[in-house]
Amino acid sequence: MGQIFSDRMLKTDSSFIAEVMRLTEATDIISFAGGLPNPISFPVEEFKESMQRVLTNYGEKVFQYSGTQGYLPLRQWIADRYKKRFGMDVTAENILITTGSQQGLDLMGKVLVNKGDNVAVESPCYLAAIQTFSLYEPNFLPVSLEEDGLNLEELEEALNHDNVKLLYTVPNFQNPTGLTYSKEKREAIYDILRKTNTILIEDDPYGELRYEGESLPYIAGGKSDNSVLFGSFSKTLSPGMRIGYLCTTNDELMGHLIAAKQASDLHTNVISQYAIYDYLVNNDYEKHISQITELYKTQCNAMIASMEKHLPSHVTFTKPEGGMFLWAVSSVDVFKYAVQNKVAFVPGDPFYTNVKGASTLRLNYTNSDPETIDEGIRRLAEVLK
Ligand SMILES: Cc1ncc(COP(=O)(O)O)c(C=O)c1O
Repeated sequence: MGQIFSDRMLKTDSSFIAEVMRLTEATDIISFAGGLPNPISFPVEEFKESMQRVLTNYGEKVFQYSGTQGYLPLRQWIADRYKKRFGMDVTAENILITTGSQQGLDLMGKVLVNKGDNVAVESPCYLAAIQTFSLYEPNFLPVSLEEDGLNLEELEEALNHDNVKLLYTVPNFQNPTGLTYSKEKREAIYDILRKTNTILIEDDPYGELRYEGESLPYIAGGKSDNSVLFGSFSKTLSPGMRIGYLCTTNDELMGHLIAAKQASDLHTNVISQYAIYDYLVNNDYEKHISQITELYKTQCNAMIASMEKHLPSHVTFTKPEGGMFLWAVSSVDVFKYAVQNKVAFVPGDPFYTNVKGASTLRLNYTNSDPETIDEGIRRLAEVLK
């Protein structure tokens, strides 16, 4: 049946991650494999009120088709927040509401990447970005991610190639590593990028979830027309509502992104957009975010403490200042044995475009309480020892 499917689909392999998820679903396994926000962070009661208000006040309007760029008051709210948090000079016209920031990745691929074009990515990289871009059959240029951001020599080398359409980054609490780019690296990357035509994506679904240190300015967001910022309400309010957004001051690019979105899904779910806007203007969003960060800080610290207590010294790991993941590097590949010992994580390969057999572990801490985290890390340590 193979010949009926497109080359791009046949080249996209999602079987590895599906297999990981299948293995981790057994009820007696402690899983650090998922990437889900903790459900106790969802403001269900507040959304009952918001939904009620939206249906009462807007009735049929929210059941109707709507404009592709998204609900204007929500776009204005997002632009105002960029202005307030980062002093950025952006308006509602610079914002496109997307069906999760995941759709932003697809739209960028669609609008910019021809088969064989170069796309520079962090190494390791958010696995679903690799998957999405792969559908446009690019040539990936992996750039090593270090403790404080991209390796600058590798970045310069990558951007020296012809036709590097995109550089994809997650500058805050990166998925999978939990690492954050330093201020100095951000500035250095900006200086390198300024000499090129490459469009920089700063994908930032975790930036609000900072529990240590200071929020840092974006690399190019708000400063350059070659910049696209991605944001999302998935990690702060609800991933199920599928409300993400992107921000760019590049009008030509925005026009193409809107056209691509129109062809893809006409517009994002209208009820979700109205409900999120209603929630934002009628509740204390900052307080809600600080409750989530408190929760995740406790869980992250519990995982770090358990790792320091139980793991053998050959295992090194990151200490995130926010977000949902930490990343460990071991000298051996232990995934199979870990699952046998009833603990799971996402192992290395799907986060790389050019590595096979990486002995790395992405560990999610947001979905387990401190006792479960300690037991899971103890089981992991048995295997690693
Ligand atoms: C780096 C990164 N980008 C994008 C997404 C997708 O988020 P959304 O739910 O907004 O589509 C995720 C989700 O885990 C992510 O980690």
